[in-house]
Formats: sequence, structure tokens, C-alpha cells
Amino acid sequence: MNPFYITTPIYYVNARPHLGHAYSTVVADVVNRFHRMCGQETYFLTGTDEHGDKVVRAAKEEGLSPLVYVDRISDLFRKLWPELDIEHDWFIRTTDPNHVKVVGDVLQKIYEAGDIYFGEYEGAYCFGCERFYTERELVDGRCPDHDTVPEAIKESNYFFRMSPYQDWLIDHINTHSDFIRPERYRNEVLAFLREPLEDLCISRPKTRIQWGITLPFDDQYVTYVWFDALLNYVSALGYPDGKLFKKLWPNVCHLVAKDILKPHGIYWPIMLKAAGIPVYRHLYVHGYWNVDETKMSKSLGNVVEPLELKNQYGTDAIRYFLMREMVFGLDSSFSERALIQRINSDLANDLGNLFSRSLTMVHKYFEGIVPKGDVAPESNLDLEVKSAAFEAVQEYQDAMEGFAFHKALMAIWQFINRINKYIDVTAPWELAKKKSQRNDLQVVLYNILESLRVIAGLLYPFMPRAAHVMQEHLGITWATPFQTLHDFNVWGKTRPGTKLPKTITLFPRIEPDKLKPKPGETVPSKKELVPARPEIEISMEVFQKMDLRVGTVLRAEPVPRSKKLLKLKVDVGEERTIVAGIAENYQSEDLIGKQVVIVANVKPTKLMGILSQGMVLTASDKGTCRLATLDGSCEPGTPLM
Ligand code: MSP
Repeated sequence: MNPFYITTPIYYVNARPHLGHAYSTVVADVVNRFHRMCGQETYFLTGTDEHGDKVVRAAKEEGLSPLVYVDRISDLFRKLWPELDIEHDWFIRTTDPNHVKVVGDVLQKIYEAGDIYFGEYEGAYCFGCERFYTERELVDGRCPDHDTVPEAIKESNYFFRMSPYQDWLIDHINTHSDFIRPERYRNEVLAFLREPLEDLCISRPKTRIQWGITLPFDDQYVTYVWFDALLNYVSALGYPDGKLFKKLWPNVCHLVAKDILKPHGIYWPIMLKAAGIPVYRHLYVHGYWNVDETKMSKSLGNVVEPLELKNQYGTDAIRYFLMREMVFGLDSSFSERALIQRINSDLANDLGNLFSRSLTMVHKYFEGIVPKGDVAPESNLDLEVKSAAFEAVQEYQDAMEGFAFHKALMAIWQFINRINKYIDVTAPWELAKKKSQRNDLQVVLYNILESLRVIAGLLYPFMPRAAHVMQEHLGITWATPFQTLHDFNVWGKTRPGTKLPKTITLFPRIEPDKLKPKPGETVPSKKELVPARPEIEISMEVFQKMDLRVGTVLRAEPVPRSKKLLKLKVDVGEERTIVAGIAENYQSEDLIGKQVVIVANVKPTKLMGILSQGMVLTASDKGTCRLATLDGSCEPGTPLM
């Protein structure tokens, strides 16, 4: 098995770490731990991006030299990660001498190969983004990211010729379906590449900025910060001759958010190709965290500090929330209220209660000693629990491999609920009343402990602390620090006769007064959110004119140039095309096979040039759209009454 190498973006040191940085780094840690569970050797890289104009300006604002300033902020990132139980193997800084050397060497190589030339450029320069913009890229003449009018700058600079690699890159993306994931970002890069690629300005004159890596072939210039930063992924491995580079490259998984898709999806593969370095294997792109439905920004004062959250709610709870709440690839909104609700219902209630009620029973009925699981014939209920465990493991594994972390956690929680039901139905407290049922009681409790072992093991990538404590209390001392995927394909690994420690509370409930609005905060009541519709008399006859039907989604794809719309092919007894405004909350691939409710007799209308032959019913909760579905499968076309 090839070793697995994962990277996060290296973060700019112009601001303190926030929730967005924490999310990317937690995802990388979760994926890394999952690969370790699969028995793979892994390597996890993160770090800081320390050159460029932005950093110089931030240092000036603090009255510090860039050197002192970058040390200070880089340290904040470095010290934060262990607080969030992130186990990276290396922390790279672009001011590291080895990195500086690699950047110089790669530039020289590409220069000698003839892909870098000197030229004059006049254009609109955004200082926030540290790059030139073309007319086409500006929105009403303003930078799309900073909403400022770029300055007109005329400069002589060095340029990296990218156009000769355009066709190669298109072909590479088309022939490697897992190069850029999820699909929507792959399509976005292909859409960029439909326009001719312009050459990339890769230098900045020292007359304007000195804080950077000097070009090896002209000491009057420093390197453009992106050309410098991207190379961290190979310099950290000791490119070109280092052992790690030879062992790990190019079997890498780069993880970034959508804001830096273009440098990673276009500049980076072309840089690698031009430098004669094999192209990376995977780029995984996630969405953006907003806060209470608003963009997180310093000026709005709503930046969420991961360390504060951790101190208040604990590392595991934060990690769980981030991974459960965001659908990888789509945007999500953070709110403390939602976090507390998840802690109370998923962690304290579902998981925590199951754990403590189970261990309490083992202590009560068997003096804390793991009973035997094979002393009575298995009932159908026992068999069902076993197969539910194997199903959960399979679903979890598929979801983890597809970066659908929320689904992996849903599979675990479905299993948790299944075990809670198993306890309710088998009622061990009743079995305990009769001596003759002692063996049945042993089997039931053994199955519960085995289920908890599987649950603890599957939770390890997400909540390593809770997983560890659970395993300790289940007597799983043979699997420190984690169980491997093989351990979940066997039923019976918990060892009868093991004496278990007393149970503990895994996740304390958060007091409800934390949910009360803070001074000045108003929480809109449901009524305010959705004004009731005026009462009108609708006769049954009128209501029944509406043709509501069950539809099965056959295919789904984004509508070009639209952020909100998806084009669906739905089987409603016949195949219909339906355009639905759900793209911000659903990915095409997740919809295939889903059953939805369709208004089948609305007048067909054209949306973005596509004739929509029906309407999909949805609920919109604070901007999050949810599809109305059925709680069991139905024949497509079945009418709703
Ligand atoms: N220094 C560059 C990256 C160079 S990589 C060779 C940079 N740094 S950054 O500090 O701006 O970090 C951007 C990354 O931080 C995003 O791609 C994402 O991983 C993370 N996030 C920053 N804000 C975020 C959100 N609001 N939500 C989710 N992730 C976000 O760009």
C-alpha cells in the first residue's frame, strides 16, 4: 500500500487563526487518522505562508518588523493545532531556509527551460489579493474578493508562460476523474480553462516590496507569493533528493477551500509540469464557514476563535460539530446555538446516555466484568444488531473514502439509535429478574459492549479523546491508540472476563441558559421567521386539483452560470426535467435515487433557458434548504393525498 500524504493550505500570518483555518486542519487530521486506521503509513503537513505584501502591511500596523511579526503569528498557528488534537507530522514555514532554497532552484530550472520571460505589464493590481486582475475578472470594475477598485500599475516583471500547458491540463483533468473533487470544483476549473490562459506574473520589483524570496536570476526582484507558497508541498519533503519526497510524492491529497481553487487547480499543476515534477494526485475542495449566515470578517467583529470555543466546549465537541454540520464542498453557517444543540442531543443524549446506561448495567448485573457472548443461541434481534454493525461500518467506510464526513457520522448515529432500541426491546432489567434468563442477559450485554467497541473505533478519527476514554472503559486495551478497520469486520473482539472501570459521563450537557439570548441579541420566534399565511377557505375539491406526486431523482447536474439551480431528471411515473433552487445545499451526486415530492401540474416555466416541468417541495430554514422526502420508498408517480 502506498503511503498517504495529506496537506492543508499554509495559512497567511496576517491574521490570527480562526474557525475556517481550524476546519481545514481538522478535516486533514480526520482523513489522516482514517488512513492510519486503514493500516496505511501517513504523513500530514501544515504550516504558514509568510511572505508578501499583506504580511508586511499587517506587521506595520502592529509596529513590528516582518521578521518578528511572522514569528509571533506563526507560533499562534503552531500552538493551536495540538489544542485541537491535530497530529501533523511537520509544520513548514515559507521563511525556512530549505524552502527558500527549493523556490530558487525550481525558478532557475523553469527559467532555464525557457518558460519564464521578462516583459512589461500594465494592469489593474489589487493589493489585497497581491495580483493583477484582467477587466473580465473584475465585477463592476472592482476586485471580486475585496470590493475595492484596483490600482493601475505599470511595471516590468517576470512572467511564467502557462498557455503551452493549457491543453495538457484540460486533458489531464478529463482523464483523471478524481484529480479535483467534488465534481462542482472540477467543473469550475474546466470552465476557467475554456478561456485562454494568461501568463502569470511571478515577480515583484524590490522597489515596491522586499519581503520575499529573491529571484535567482535577478536580484532586483522577489518571487510572487503564490509561486513561493505552492512549492511548500514539495520543499517540506526535501525535494528533489529527500527520502520523504521519494517516498511520498506524488501520492498526495491537497486540501483547500474554494477561495484558493485557481492557484491549486491551475497554477500548481502547471508549475509542477514545467519543473518536470510529477503532478499531484488529488485536490479536495471544501466550502466556506459563515457565521450566523453572514461572512466571517474582522470588520464585522464576528470572527470565531477556535481556542475560545475549545476552552468552552472541549476539543471533541468542536471537531464533531465541524465535521457533522458541514457537507464537504458546500458552505455552512456556524452558530453557538447550533453547536450547543448538537452537543446536548447527539453527544450527551444519544451517545453519552447509551454509553453510561450500558456500563451501568454491566456493573449492576455482572459486577463490572464483561459477560460471555456465546452462552445462549442468538435471537433474531441479536443477529439484526450484528448485521446493523457491519452495515454501519460499510456505510462509514464508503462515506469516509468519498469525503462525505457528515454521512459517516450519520451512519454511526443510526447505529447508536439502533442499539438504544435493542436495549429498549430486549429490556435487560427484565431479563435480570429471572435466574433462568441469565444467559440471555449475558448475550444481550455482550452485544451492547461489542457495539460500543465498534462505535468507539469508528469515532476515533473525529473524536480521538472520546474514542480513547470509551475504549479504556470497555477494556479495549489491546487497541491503543486506535482499532483498525479489520477490527470492525469481526464480531467478538471484546474479551469476556475483563474487569471494566466505573462508568463516566462522556459529554456533560450544556446548561440551557447558555441558549438564552445574550444581552442585545434577539432570537426571532418562529412566528417572526415565517409570517403565517392568511386563512382562506380551500375546499377539498380545490386542494385536490394540486397534483402532488412521489418522484425519484434519476440524474442531477448543476445549471451553468447559476449558483442556486440544479437540473434534475425525475421519474414521476414518466421522466420529467425539473429545475430546483437547491444547489447551495445539495450536491448532484447525493441526490441520485432520492425520493422527493413533486408538484406535477404547475405550469412549465423556463429557468436559465431550461424548461422546468414541475416543482420540488422544499422547506427553507434560515436560508438552509431541505427537500421534503418520504419515510419509506414508494413507487415513482404515487400521488400524495
Ligand atoms: N496562504 C494562502 C494559501 C497558500 S497554500 C499554498 C492562503 N492563506 S489563508 O490564510 O487565507 O487561508 C485560506 C484557507 O483557510 C482556505 O483555503 C481554507 O482552507 C481556510 N479558510 C479561511 N477562511 C475560511 C472559511 N471562512 N471557511 C472555511 N475555510 C476557510 O490563502
